[in-house]
Amino acid sequence: MKVIITREIPSIAEDLLKAEGYEVKIIAKNRSAEKEEIIRRGKKADALLTLLSDKIDREMIDNLKQCKIIANYAVGYNNIDVGYAKSKGIIVTNTPDILTDATADIAIALTLAVSRRITEGDTFMRSGKFNGWEPKLLLGVSLTGKTFGIVGAGRIGQATAKRAKAFGMKIVYFNRSKKEKFEKEFGAKKVSLKKLFSTSDVISVHLPLTENTFHLLNKEILSLMKPNAIFVNTARGEIVEEKYLSKLLKEKKIFGAGLDVYEGEPDYDKEILKLKNVVLLPHIGSGNVETRNKMAELAAKNIIRVLKGKKPLTPVM
Ligand code: GLV
Ligand code: GLV
Repeated sequence: MKVIITREIPSIAEDLLKAEGYEVKIIAKNRSAEKEEIIRRGKKADALLTLLSDKIDREMIDNLKQCKIIANYAVGYNNIDVGYAKSKGIIVTNTPDILTDATADIAIALTLAVSRRITEGDTFMRSGKFNGWEPKLLLGVSLTGKTFGIVGAGRIGQATAKRAKAFGMKIVYFNRSKKEKFEKEFGAKKVSLKKLFSTSDVISVHLPLTENTFHLLNKEILSLMKPNAIFVNTARGEIVEEKYLSKLLKEKKIFGAGLDVYEGEPDYDKEILKLKNVVLLPHIGSGNVETRNKMAELAAKNIIRVLKGKKPLTPVM
């Protein structure tokens, strides 16, 4: 059996696959694999381990002549044409659950960084401007008693709410279905998207990117935010009309934003780099050592199970 890994990930994946006697080929080490490379190698692959930055479209899937599984090294799988893969008999898996806490941590880290102007403070210190304590230096906004709006109350959304609750915040959420247990446990209240945007002090996005959520947070919705609102996105950039968010931030219509994801990555709105009221991270929501190891292990285990004719642990649908 031949397994192609598009780019180097923690070695546990390779170790597990090799222990099964599989031939493992890693396309790239310190860069993304090129489309042509995935196409060329994919032809003879029995399994493909992909990253969220690999776009696995119809053309690529048509080329996977003997592939039985595409194991995505991410919880999100919008980079793969899942329906088409399925029609070709290829199973797609992701890495849910194990990265929930890591991602919720980053959503809260961004919330705190924006509300207390952490990166501005860091820049201030490094620039040598510090002259001792000042009454009005870099004043932020309080979280205590404020409302935290969760857009998408899945596992990550709920884990983020749990953390926000610990800061003394009230929880409201927007979700297709009502989450009874979540409501009971955290006193969370289900509201419409418009209500969430017009009443929340912090808004954190936790939806998957689909046809239905692309630009769901458009100009009309974003413009409802309160003057002191903080907007946080650790899900996918394409859910938000990024240009308009950038305009709101530039015109100081909201307090600030914390972003880990961008529209059209690796691209993003360069204008945003000039703004002080934004904290920017390079898509590292799941980025701690323990979590990335677990993701590698789960992706490999999904491949092994499928190549042995068993059900994968975490199929996407
Ligand atoms: C990260 O964005 C993931 O989907 O795992
Ligand atoms: C899915 O994105 C989740 O919340 O785990």
